[in-house]
Amino acid sequence: MTTPTPPIKLAVFSTKSYDKTYLDTVLSTTHPSLFEPSYHPFALSLETVPLAANHEAISAFVNDTLDAPVLRALHSTGARAILLRCAGYNNIDLTVAEELGLFVANVPSYSPEAVAEFTIALLQTLNRNTHRAYNRVREGNFNLEGLMGTTLFGKTVGVIGVGRIGLAFAKIVRGFGCRLLAADPKPSSSEAEFEEQYGGKLVPLETLLSESDIVSLHCPLTKGTRHIIDTQNLALMKKGALLVNTSRGPLINTKSAIEALKSGQLGGLALDVYEEEAAYFYNDHSHEIIHDDTLMRLMTFPNVLVCGHQAFFTREALGEICETVARNLEDWVKGRHCVNSLVREGHLVVRGEGEPVRI
Ligand code: NAI
Repeated sequence: MTTPTPPIKLAVFSTKSYDKTYLDTVLSTTHPSLFEPSYHPFALSLETVPLAANHEAISAFVNDTLDAPVLRALHSTGARAILLRCAGYNNIDLTVAEELGLFVANVPSYSPEAVAEFTIALLQTLNRNTHRAYNRVREGNFNLEGLMGTTLFGKTVGVIGVGRIGLAFAKIVRGFGCRLLAADPKPSSSEAEFEEQYGGKLVPLETLLSESDIVSLHCPLTKGTRHIIDTQNLALMKKGALLVNTSRGPLINTKSAIEALKSGQLGGLALDVYEEEAAYFYNDHSHEIIHDDTLMRLMTFPNVLVCGHQAFFTREALGEICETVARNLEDWVKGRHCVNSLVREGHLVVRGEGEPVRI
């Protein structure tokens, strides 16, 4: 790998005002005049690749496209490093990135508590109807009809994926006095540790689904987890159970979830992420017709709550994200990892198969 010479041009895609504020502050403090960032509000796609011409470093977010054609196009215009500003890396073709010798780094860990706490906010909003109460009271309607929820104490909560965020969520749920079940093919703690530290039990997915009153998704999106919640698994759930997804939209087959909501099999659905979110999330479409009928159908249910992928969105998390991006940039400049710094936290190694493997 050739060492980049300063000032290094960095193209930042899907930029919002807060990205610029935090990244500018971190870069000017940690690496004054090393980088020359250019900020683009547009998402990265084949159409917007020309904005990154002659930029060696590219920063992308969750809904940017980093598939094979985009990576090849970026590489041909000089890109050598891809800095994700998120934990999930499902939107990048890592096999092609490795083949091109691109340095790729994600932000493996930033305030897992931020996401876990938001998961609780969604769950309790859905469960206790605080969103509806807020609207009613503002109109002078103090009627409680239709606002009844359930007490979480003593309920069984199933956590699918007990990595950093799943464990942070488990800790909070334990504090509520819930019974905790978890399903994870490669849990970060042993069964005994999990039981001792979190008061929970590791069980097969089928057991978790059939015994939980609340199911919360915290696994990454991979080939193996796409539609992990489908018609078959929805049918295994307890009738009327609540489902929360703050991980990635395609973990749930949305059309199956709609059917389960219509039949009452699913008692409520809280989403921070949505299968086809890239077309709408992070932008204001309030003045347009939304053409996604599935999303619009979801919004008609009184027991569905949709947020626009904001679980990560705290001051602390944004600061940590930008600091990690700066550290990743430094790694790249110093040639510390020339292929893939997803390994940096000793957490993941990706070598060709396209599936992340824990090391
Ligand atoms: P992590 O890598 O620490 O943990 C993920 C866990 O899921 C691991 O223990 C893994 O073994 C497990 N897992 C993998 N396949 C599974 C399967 N088939 N069934 C059950 N468990 C499985 O990741 P972390 O940091 O906890 O993040 C989880 C996900 O949360 C990320 O991949 C990302 O998609 C999402 N996320 C969402 C955010 C938001 O703003 N809504 C912000 C940050 C992350």
